[in-house]
Amino acid sequence: MILTVNRDRIVSEIEALASISEAEPPVVTRIVFSPSDLKARAWMKARCAEAGLTVREDAVGNTFARWTGSDPSAPVVGTGSHIDAIPNAGKFDGVVGVLGGLEAIRALRQSGFRPRYSIELLIFTSEEPTRFGIGCLGSRLLSGTLPPDAARKLKDNDGATLDDVRRAAGFKGELEEVSLPAGYYHAFAELHIEQGPLLEQQQIPLGIVTRIAAPASLRILVEGSGGHAGAVLMPDRRDALCAAAEMILAIENAAHSSGAIDTVATVGICDVFPGAVNSIPSRVRLSVDVRDTDLQRRDLVMRTIETTCRSIANQRHITINLELLNADAPADCAPAVIEALSQSCRKHELKFLPMVSRAYHDSLFMARIAPVAMLFIPCRNGYSHRPDEYASPEDVVRGTLVLAETLAALSE
Ligand code: GLV
Ligand code: MN
Ligand code: MN
Repeated sequence: MILTVNRDRIVSEIEALASISEAEPPVVTRIVFSPSDLKARAWMKARCAEAGLTVREDAVGNTFARWTGSDPSAPVVGTGSHIDAIPNAGKFDGVVGVLGGLEAIRALRQSGFRPRYSIELLIFTSEEPTRFGIGCLGSRLLSGTLPPDAARKLKDNDGATLDDVRRAAGFKGELEEVSLPAGYYHAFAELHIEQGPLLEQQQIPLGIVTRIAAPASLRILVEGSGGHAGAVLMPDRRDALCAAAEMILAIENAAHSSGAIDTVATVGICDVFPGAVNSIPSRVRLSVDVRDTDLQRRDLVMRTIETTCRSIANQRHITINLELLNADAPADCAPAVIEALSQSCRKHELKFLPMVSRAYHDSLFMARIAPVAMLFIPCRNGYSHRPDEYASPEDVVRGTLVLAETLAALSE
């Protein structure tokens, strides 16, 4: 089997997808079910159909593009990732796994290879948490991790429910139909940029993920008392933003003091109400993201954050409301898929680094219903979730080639 990855095609497709964005280039912003997300989905479906794949979508918009194998009733070999992008993102997060997956399938078809198991490209809905507060919406539903009732209660910042928004986007079925039957997958492999600096620093072209770290997130609503910025004297204040500022530093400190480099905590959203220069902030909403490779340590940090924030609130005579959005376990990748990826690397004499994914991915949830592993390619300076995110064409092609070989080996 001679596999040829079409470098110019995948590079131009990455550019074409990046141009479908809510922001001016080089910024990519593509929030789930926004006009740009729907346009990008339509564009992707056209590419999949052109490649001869059979496309179907489920009720939450997860998109499956299938190359039917010689044993159509056998379990499926899956690959894929996401095309939604957080505000102020770059071109490669998720997209490399989707377009790389498609290019891998095209390369296999062109080589004359015929799979026994069907090979399916999966484009997950809303891997990013931007709109509904939790990430991996599509894979949570596919894997049965998120009950449809809980999904129906999700709302965006404008108060629109997931059900309303997905139906308006054209995805009409019932959320109950999204979860996949047991045994659907033979294996699942996701290609992604590393989103960290290790591969580049160690000059290793590929990473094979053995474990995905455990993410959790919560919202903290801080309520104090507003008033006139000139007239209310300092001893009489209950400034919600000052309290939130102390909490943000306490959250940073909770991660520092876990004793492990693997613990990270971020406050990425701080909404201040009413947001006027001459008005004391009465209300603040914080969004907190905590991750660790170790579940117990992550949960301990979560408890520390809660008790410290409550004590800051008490001292400042402020009320807080903590809402846990998600607290997921880590996932171990499957030895058989790790081995298939490793064998492909060895065949091409490519050095690879076994590594932990500190970012989460849909593979975290797919690992609950399928043997899963991930393949990482380097990204410049380890940058991701920013417009200057970059992976070189050589690295994209290399990752795609190894993915193609792996899909072939798994589907024989
Ligand atoms: C995924 O985008 C993550 O935040 O890890
Ligand atoms: Mn991302
Ligand atoms: Mn991603």
